[in-house]
This record gives sequence, C-alpha cells and structure tokens, in this order.
Amino acid sequence: MLVSDGYHIPYHLNGLRLYTGPAYKFRTNLGYIETEEGDFAMMKVLIIVGSLRRKSFNRQLADAISDIISGHAEVSFLEYSDLPMMNQDLEYPVPAVVQRIRSEVTGADGLWIVTPEYNHSYPGVLKNLIDWLSRPVDPLDRRSGSAIRGRKVAISSVAGNSSGSFCRERLSELLTTIGADPMEDPQTGFTLDADAFTSDILTLRLEDLDRLKVQADAFLDFIDD
Ligand SMILES: Cc1cc2nc3c(=O)[nH]c(=O)nc-3n(C[C@H](O)[C@H](O)[C@H](O)COP(=O)(O)O)c2cc1C
Repeated sequence: MLVSDGYHIPYHLNGLRLYTGPAYKFRTNLGYIETEEGDFAMMKVLIIVGSLRRKSFNRQLADAISDIISGHAEVSFLEYSDLPMMNQDLEYPVPAVVQRIRSEVTGADGLWIVTPEYNHSYPGVLKNLIDWLSRPVDPLDRRSGSAIRGRKVAISSVAGNSSGSFCRERLSELLTTIGADPMEDPQTGFTLDADAFTSDILTLRLEDLDRLKVQADAFLDFIDD
C-alpha cells in the first residue's frame, strides 16, 4: 500500500474512475481514504511538449506536471519527433507514425500541451503536429472526424517575460478552430529566470507547484465531465 508523501499522491480524488491498479491510501482534506483494487480506474492524460530541445525547460515543466498528476491519472508523453512535415501527398496511405500518434491521442481522456513561445506564437513543430491531428481520420471522407476533435486540452508554458501568454492565447484559438476543447481557465505560464539560461535548469518555486496543482485539479474535473 502506498501512502501519500503530500506531493506525489494527490490530495483529493478528483479524476479517479473505476480503478484497476494496486491499493492506494490517499491523504485528503477529510483524512485518509483507502482504495482497493477494482475501486477506480485512472483517467489517461497525454502530455505533448512543444519543444524538441534535449534540455527543454518545457519538458522539465512537463515532468513536474507528470509528478503532480501521477497517482491521480495515468500519464504518458507523446513522442512525435519523427513526424514528417505536413504534405498532402503523404496523407494516404496514412503513415505509420501518424496512425500511432492518432491512436495515442484518441486513447487519452485529456491532452496537456506544455510549450514554449516562439515569436509570440506556438512553435512550428507543434503546429505541424496539430495540422496532422486536424485532418479527417478517413482521408476519403471529410465527415469522418479528426483525432483531435472534441479532445479536452490543458495548456502550460515556460517562456521569457511574456510567460507564454501570446502563445497560449493563439494556441487556444487554434484548438478551438479545429474543434478541440481547450480549458481556458486556469492555464499556467512561467517566466524563465536569468540563471536558467546558463544552468539549463528550470527552477519551480512552491507557489509555482501550487498553481500547477490547482490547474491539475481543474483539468481532472474538466475531463471527468
Ligand atoms: C525562434 C524562437 C523564438 C522565440 N520567441 C519568443 C517569444 O516570442 N517570447 C518568449 O517569451 N520567448 C521566446 N523565445 C524564447 C523561448 O521561450 C525560450 O528559448 C525557451 O527556453 C524555449 O523553450 P524550451 O527550453 O522548452 O525549448 C524564442 C525562442 C526561439 C528559439
């Protein structure tokens, strides 16, 4: 049985569905709650990082988000560095990498996009991924729907002084345009401190983690609706 350490195990039960994992003991505002195997199943959250950089600050933020929601939801990261640039010549037959990405996206209850801001917008690699996801699942039937239509999405960003506000706003707009369902409030944006650029390490303060926990709670509620 696992006992909460106050950080890795969430402090309330938002987001849990019929659970098939091992027994857990959760600390909540109301005291400890014990769950048995078969009580709940966890929701699935797929994290998408908008940077391919090896030491990406956004990847570091995504790891912190993963720590916060693990135990609350099943978390995985989307690997898409091998996705080709959108080219309609490649759409049919559907490339294997696109099939894999679509099935990971449709298999998740929620997507959490964690992205840098590039020139007051989202990076091209993320736009390319979203362009692929926006296309009809059956290329011969435009009404077959897309992998991202109706998907619930949380948005976070680490960037410069803007804390990614321009990028987050534009990303929300893009997602809405293609029929996804971005959670507008709360989103989280963090500003890199001067040290980050020399250390390549993202430092999150306790209040930053609290903001992420509030967002995580809200998102698990949002995808449970
Ligand atoms: C092409 C490019 C454009 C950028 N434009 C912005 C910007 O408009 N606003 C901002 O806050 N930071 C901007 N940045 C800085 C990035 O936010 C910063 O490099 C960040 O660390 C990148 O995220 P990553 O570490 O996850 O790769 C830009 C960086 C690049 C490479």
